[in-house]
Amino acid sequence: MPAVGGASPDWRGRGAAPLGCASAGLASGSGAPRPGSAMATLRALLPRVRAPLRAWPGCPALRSLASSAHFEHIVVAKKGKSSNVGLIQLNRPKALNALCKGLILELNQALQAFEEDPAVGAIVLTGGEKAFAAGADIKEMQNQTFQDCYSGGFLSHWDQLARVRKPVIAAVNGYALGGGCELAMMCDIVYAGEKAQFGQPEILLGTIPGAGGTQRLTRAVGKSLTMEMVLTGDRISAQDAKQAGLVSKIFPVETLVEEAIQCAEKIASNSKIVTAMAKESVNAAFEMTLAEGLKLEKKLFYSTFATEDQKEGMTAFVEKRKANFKDQ
Ligand code: COA
Repeated sequence: MPAVGGASPDWRGRGAAPLGCASAGLASGSGAPRPGSAMATLRALLPRVRAPLRAWPGCPALRSLASSAHFEHIVVAKKGKSSNVGLIQLNRPKALNALCKGLILELNQALQAFEEDPAVGAIVLTGGEKAFAAGADIKEMQNQTFQDCYSGGFLSHWDQLARVRKPVIAAVNGYALGGGCELAMMCDIVYAGEKAQFGQPEILLGTIPGAGGTQRLTRAVGKSLTMEMVLTGDRISAQDAKQAGLVSKIFPVETLVEEAIQCAEKIASNSKIVTAMAKESVNAAFEMTLAEGLKLEKKLFYSTFATEDQKEGMTAFVEKRKANFKDQ
């Protein structure tokens, strides 16, 4: 994967060097970290990480985050000219980013850290050039029983991504299959590289999608194409995905992540509180009747007038200057 612009502190996964960012492991830091930096976010996160650690000493991802700020299955960095974009790269290339338990746990930790970082206004989720993610880890779930799935709430912690309040852009190169396609669909915007392929091939393994594939895909591309994909396991190209409405833009493989970061920077330059309201209102369209959705939209619209940022935005327009939002 080519380097992406705006080098900034990152939390580097073991053996990973794909994003071309300067490394800043927690262990190497001395003195107070720069406010808003990845290091500062991690330091702020540590007390909360240490508490569950004591209760769950066997969890390697928690242990590694607390001790060295290193993830095993993901690479995390802050990007953009103002370091206001959180970038998460799934990084299990040998398994085509198959979504094992450890990876999802780390993804959730990184999402939470960015969610709590006041400097971050939007998040980009990406994978590698060959695979965004080739689905749930088949080797890990192969021998699971119904009892294991039911009692353990299998896949129930996957949808933290869908609950993040900050906007998330999926930058999909290569395969987005099964859980990979489901993760992309939990994001707010999906950008694809020219060679991306989307699919829900679970039927070929004797199972069905379990993290939203039958529901979010139907809402994104309609019944006929969803049925075709879910019942045959056939994949669709980036071009077909765009035509069907699953993807909003397609870019060359090598510029995809940079384009996603630029879009995220644009989003992050707006008022974060008003952005969260806009996201909430759009997402309500998937859950509510039109009448209920319109009512919620109106309430949120009125709520924007209680913010300083609405005053600033409109005053800036009238004064013919750029708005300086304070997220208040
Ligand atoms: N879970 C676990 N391991 C996976 C995986 C998954 N979902 N997808 C790929 N891998 C592993 C392969 O087992 C292989 O590992 P190995 O080298 O130890 O054998 C490695 O990733 C490379 O995969 P491979 O199949 O050799 O690559 P390919 O280029 O020939 O094919 C795919 C790529 C994506 C078409 C193929 O890997 C595939 O069909 N994967 C499963 C997709 C799927 O069914 N997802 C839904 C899961 S519910």
